[in-house]
Amino acid sequence: MLDPIEPFAYTPFMNEFTIRGFGRYAPERIVTNFDLEKMVDTSDEWITSRTGIKQRHVVAEGETASDMATKAAMQALADAGMEADELTHIVLGTFTPDAMIPSTACRVQQKLGIKGQMCMDVGAACSGFLYGLETARGYLAVKPDSKILVVATEAISHRLNMEDRTTCVLFGDAAGAVIITGGDPDGKPQLLDVMLGADGSLGDLLTVNGGGAAAPYKKGDIVGDEYFVQMQGRETFKHAVRNMVGISEKLIKKCGVEKKDIDVLIPHQANWRIIDAVGRKFDLPAEKVFVNIDRYANTSAASIPLALSEARDTGFIKPGNLVLLTAFGGGFTWGSALVQF
Ligand code: UT7
Repeated sequence: MLDPIEPFAYTPFMNEFTIRGFGRYAPERIVTNFDLEKMVDTSDEWITSRTGIKQRHVVAEGETASDMATKAAMQALADAGMEADELTHIVLGTFTPDAMIPSTACRVQQKLGIKGQMCMDVGAACSGFLYGLETARGYLAVKPDSKILVVATEAISHRLNMEDRTTCVLFGDAAGAVIITGGDPDGKPQLLDVMLGADGSLGDLLTVNGGGAAAPYKKGDIVGDEYFVQMQGRETFKHAVRNMVGISEKLIKKCGVEKKDIDVLIPHQANWRIIDAVGRKFDLPAEKVFVNIDRYANTSAASIPLALSEARDTGFIKPGNLVLLTAFGGGFTWGSALVQF
């Protein structure tokens, strides 16, 4: 935990960024590793030992990223004691939007039954939630009265090639949300700082190219492999550990925090071995590292807010805890955030 007397080593441009409410949603349908054994050449043993995944939630027929995001958002609003029409901004992270146009954020606005707010999607793959948090801080810096829904949602099952065992076993569908405001924190968690990074030169290691302007489809084309998630797993693994550790070290240094001050680590849930490696670099015992990859698999942008909401509700995070969030994803993109509960 931080010593409350010690000032932070940075000067915030406004006083407080408060997380007023948390929410999450995962679809009802569960697909286990044993179910996948019947669909593709894989085994529960391989998936469990290489990733830690045992099952994943998968959207129902017709269920979309915005449907899940709306449910997570409604939970976050209720948790914050707010009505939807109090929101001023909707910032939504996803790489599996409902459509190219309209944005999924606009769809969520529509489904919440509200109008007028600024709505936009953030494209940063698995780092989308942390990019969303930083975007929210930016809006709050220029408009301190903002009340911002930051939501991340993924319907990845639509973008999985069920003939590609190197990817189709890894991902799941879910959403997670927070409400961020300025003003008196009133005992609610404080978002202390966020740090982000990216390296576009490594973009080809993790892609969903098909249908984009660089891999366009013409009417009548057959959907090819490029329509789905494609990943060079081993390379991605190395960069994930290196960058999550690197940016987290920079962030805590900037905030004047030491590794021993961190009470809970919530890393992006892409692979148990990555989570373990990051935890070890921070000298954190297993009981300080939140893991739910076994139940949800990799839910990309939704992974961090889903885990954050669950960790808070189950008591894994306790009042007064200093929580480090860190993510890595396609782009490549990465980031970390510190939250004082
Ligand atoms: O969220 C965004 C960021 N994503 C990540 O950070 C994911 C990073 N990467 C990883 O998590 C891991 O690299 C994977 C889980 C994707 C793969 O684990 P790995 O230990 O790196 O395995 P590998 O790709 O080196 O494959 C090892 C073997 C291969 O067989 P050979 O060539 O050794 O005969 C694969 O064909 O495992 C085989 N394999 C499978 N076998 C059974 C790959 N996928 C499967 C599968 N079932 N589903």
